[in-house]
Amino acid sequence: MTIDLAVIGGSGLYKFPGLENAARQRVQTPYGPASGDVVLGDFAGCRVAFLARHGEGHTVPPHRVNYRANVWALHSLGARRVIGVNAVGGIRDDMGPRTVVVPDQVIDYTHGRYTSFCDVEGAEVKHIDFSEPYTAALRRALLDAAARAGVKALDGGCYGATQGPRLETRAEIARMKRDGCDLVGMTGMPEAVLARELDLDYACLALVANFAAGCGDEAEISIEEIFAHLAAATAEVPRIVAALLEAQA
Ligand code: HPA
Repeated sequence: MTIDLAVIGGSGLYKFPGLENAARQRVQTPYGPASGDVVLGDFAGCRVAFLARHGEGHTVPPHRVNYRANVWALHSLGARRVIGVNAVGGIRDDMGPRTVVVPDQVIDYTHGRYTSFCDVEGAEVKHIDFSEPYTAALRRALLDAAARAGVKALDGGCYGATQGPRLETRAEIARMKRDGCDLVGMTGMPEAVLARELDLDYACLALVANFAAGCGDEAEISIEEIFAHLAAATAEVPRIVAALLEAQA
């Protein structure tokens, strides 16, 4: 089966709008169950696979997502290119709510997650290069697609992956800023590295839902506002993906 593109939807994206002839596929993986069924369908003249990272009812928290099963499931169905859509908080001044960003770097602050497929007793250990955590060509294609779709998307930025599900303290964000993080999210890792281990092309489409703790004018972050901004930013995703696919159809 050929799949032109797989999309992993984050918070706010539980179904891919406009996916036609959709059929669900439950994939058995050696790592246990994925977050849910993979939905395969036609979109913009191409075959697209969609998986809701948190489950379709947002029931799987970031630290309990079975990232290995999700990535393995998409690969086993024949996907070779994956876009991870991630809700994030903006740390950089120009990354306020509803900004769309295609990051180019990652710092991983998560813990206790399975970060590799290489942990089976006796299996050969495979070290991989991860200097550039995202696939350059797919990042470029996403940025060009956003431009064609009339969506302003910022090129580059460092995604700091935190454990969640709580948001960060101001001190944690101040430290992340000193470390060089521009964005903060809870699900960017280990998804990116697992995709690399399976030789998948992978890029992140980050949707800013709020200014991270201490970065905006607000004393507290409103969860309702996060979801309102996310709904607005998420509405742009199908247009960007359509432009990406139309360019290659
Ligand atoms: N921190 C971590 N993850 C997030 C945030 C945040 O402020 N906003 C949306 N996802």
